[in-house]
Amino acid sequence: MQKAYYYIANWKMYFSYLQAIAWYNDNKNQLQQLADASAALIICPSYDSLAYIAQLTKSSPVLLGAQNCSEHLQGAFTGQISAQSLKEIGINYCIIGHSEVRTACQDTNKQLKQKLQHLIEQNIIPLFCIGESLEEYHTSTTHRSLEKQLEPIFELLNNRSISTPFFIAYEPLWAIGTGVVAHNEHIISVLAAVKKIMKTCKEFHQFRFLYGGTVTSGTISELKKIENLDGFLIGKASTDFQELKKIVL
Ligand code: PGA
Repeated sequence: MQKAYYYIANWKMYFSYLQAIAWYNDNKNQLQQLADASAALIICPSYDSLAYIAQLTKSSPVLLGAQNCSEHLQGAFTGQISAQSLKEIGINYCIIGHSEVRTACQDTNKQLKQKLQHLIEQNIIPLFCIGESLEEYHTSTTHRSLEKQLEPIFELLNNRSISTPFFIAYEPLWAIGTGVVAHNEHIISVLAAVKKIMKTCKEFHQFRFLYGGTVTSGTISELKKIENLDGFLIGKASTDFQELKKIVL
């Protein structure tokens, strides 16, 4: 039997509000089959359609995630969305630290730690992204860079109990949206390094490890050969239902 992976569809800003709803409605019956074949199928639309799609997915096995949240609880923070709001509209997962958000918002480790803290308090499962730049890759400083990026998780969870899984998504920046996928040996070596760093955390068994960056129907079979990988974060390819289907099944 095929291993059941976690599949996270990161829709970024590919769809408008109406397009996202139309995509969901057009594919909702078939999505059930994909969800059944997965450990979990989690769709992350942009903020505008989240609340509406949360209503549509209420009795569906398809789960919903947000693409970011504020490091603040509430207050004068124009344009931001709190973890509490996400919970109230029925969101159970949230991507944090995606490289596109890190670039746009210049998130620091302190801010990322605050975001994680708020999500955990709301029982929202974090999908925490890490990844090295092309320069770091070429200068063999990947592990050092990732170790730094893992600090917020390490500081928060070193001694703390959590009752839900916690996802760490390895997404090399040079593989995101480029058509260039990381080689299996590289992913395996990164996974081993990340696990070594995180293994002293009290709840190490709650960590799940994902790969993201040019996951497509053409790259997935090679990626699925990697042992100890729990799932995939899929950007562009997840917006095409037939592509998504080929990735999952
Ligand atoms: P991609 O994006 O699949 O389009 O490369 C992945 C991501 O940014 O999560």
